[in-house]
Amino acid sequence: MDLSVTIASLHLKNPFIAASGCFGYGVEYASAVDLASLGGVAVKGLFLKEREGHPPPRIVETPAGMINAIGLQGIGVHRFVAEKLPELRRLGATVFVNICGSTLDEYCEVARVLSDADGVAAIEVNISCPNIKEGGIQFGCSLDGTYDVVSAIRKVTTLPIIPKLTPNVTDVASFARAAEEAGADAISLVNTFLAMAIDVETRRPKLSNVLGGLSGPAIRPIAVRMVYECHQAVKLPIIGMGGIMTVEDALEFLIAGATAVQVGTANFVDPLIWSKLIAGLEDYLTRHKFARVADLVGRLNIPAGEHEWIAS
Ligand SMILES: Cc1cc2nc3c(=O)[nH]c(=O)nc-3n(C[C@H](O)[C@H](O)[C@H](O)COP(=O)(O)O)c2cc1C
Repeated sequence: MDLSVTIASLHLKNPFIAASGCFGYGVEYASAVDLASLGGVAVKGLFLKEREGHPPPRIVETPAGMINAIGLQGIGVHRFVAEKLPELRRLGATVFVNICGSTLDEYCEVARVLSDADGVAAIEVNISCPNIKEGGIQFGCSLDGTYDVVSAIRKVTTLPIIPKLTPNVTDVASFARAAEEAGADAISLVNTFLAMAIDVETRRPKLSNVLGGLSGPAIRPIAVRMVYECHQAVKLPIIGMGGIMTVEDALEFLIAGATAVQVGTANFVDPLIWSKLIAGLEDYLTRHKFARVADLVGRLNIPAGEHEWIAS
């Protein structure tokens, strides 16, 4: 049985990738999880320089999810290349580096540094973090901004470029198209949904940043819908995510059109989820007589006649 999938020039062992911000720099999990057994590891978002992020409280639990406003705390791209990448290479991880920028120049400089480093499989371009004021989501909420960031990075690297789209827009498919026209190799979606929680006794916001990003099972049906819409709109491979806790959840994304999936919030509940996802996928493929997981991608079964009705 073939669990491997292809995203642009990348051949992944299986479709399961750890989502950025929910798996540190990967190395922290190495004593519990064989990083080489995963499809990939998307590391925490990196700017050019180190960042402290927002002060606590930065995380709130919600029904079926969590809101975070970490504020992209990170060690910066240079320290990542010097301190984390060699270890990730040694562990055999397929490394997706999630990059951030306040300006176009910053995105390009971070991409350049990573292109010169040994062991980066792909660049995931974070234009969708809802928790920072400058750059980032400002690009991702504008079609021109999305196009400009991707095309600027395209000029400075030959590594696969995977813009990560925000769900905080009305028509996500048009953003997928902008990314495709600008030269992206794939897209990933979704990042978190802008959200808020209030302590009614104190009438204070529960997060120091007031607003944060909602993740976890609460967002899954919306994320699946967005993957489906993007799959209709572009030819690019899609990496889908949002609330995956079980193999059935992951299968929904694959059937909606994702070639691979990322798993984020579930790591905080069950860091050993990976072997269960892989075993569950093998079991499903056997039961449904698929020789390759790639054959399942986008195989949504809409009975004839019903699609026109749904789409009209
Ligand atoms: C604590 C936390 C930190 C995150 N940090 C990042 C980040 O640095 N870059 C990024 O692109 N997405 C980040 N995300 C978003 C996740 O990668 C993912 O897109 C989102 O949480 C939806 O997937 P999930 O429901 O499986 O967590 C973060 C999410 C959480 C919960």
